[in-house]
Amino acid sequence: MSANRVVRLSAVLCLALLVTLPSSLSAQPKRDSRDTWQQPDRVIDDLNLSPGQRVADIGCGGGYFVFRMAKAVAAEGKVYGTEISEKALKSVKDRVERDKLTQIEPVLSGPTDTKLPDACLDAALICNVLHHVPKDQRAALVKDIARSLKPGASLSIVDWRVDAKIDHDKDRRIPRDEFLQLAKDAGLTLDAEFHYLVHQVFLRLRKSS
Ligand SMILES: C[S@@+](CC[C@H](N)C(=O)[O-])C[C@H]1O[C@@H](n2cnc3c(N)ncnc32)[C@H](O)[C@@H]1O
Repeated sequence: MSANRVVRLSAVLCLALLVTLPSSLSAQPKRDSRDTWQQPDRVIDDLNLSPGQRVADIGCGGGYFVFRMAKAVAAEGKVYGTEISEKALKSVKDRVERDKLTQIEPVLSGPTDTKLPDACLDAALICNVLHHVPKDQRAALVKDIARSLKPGASLSIVDWRVDAKIDHDKDRRIPRDEFLQLAKDAGLTLDAEFHYLVHQVFLRLRKSS
């Protein structure tokens, strides 16, 4: 076989390998995959969680943050993952059972009632949920989350920026100041605001101690 033919054959083989390589094995995450813009590790760091704490992910969906929060509070802590969707909660429950993550408690909630005990939480997160909640129910939901915070505990709101350059939920995004008003009405004050998420507002609010 001529050298030229060997080179061409190798190039074809390399191309075929690249095409068939499962995406999960490729080192780079897809450019638009959630982890690239959500920066979950940095968000978790800014929730300031520590082992043994009781925390909640309100509207946890399929558990994107619940499992990361569970790692941060460790086996001696507790994470309530609340959801109004039984289907979403089931996928969390299945993984909790499979991986024996005893610190996670999935909770089927009402639209404005988290079903969490009073003053039980050190921290709560509500990520990409409030824009799904009808406008006339948002204040009641945030007040109910505040009810379940201990004095001095935090609620972090992460949600789309009004001008986010992403296609999701363009018609129901909530202005930043409306989040602050919801927090104020629930007795929470701004503790920190983070600007590194390209698509989302990130406000950490605190209940007075
Ligand atoms: C876009 S998903 C976000 C899920 C998750 N927080 C995340 O960041 O991946 C929105 C979730 O909020 C839930 N949801 C909507 N309204 C809710 C409410 N009032 N209380 C709790 N969950 C709610 C929906 O069922 C859905 O699973």
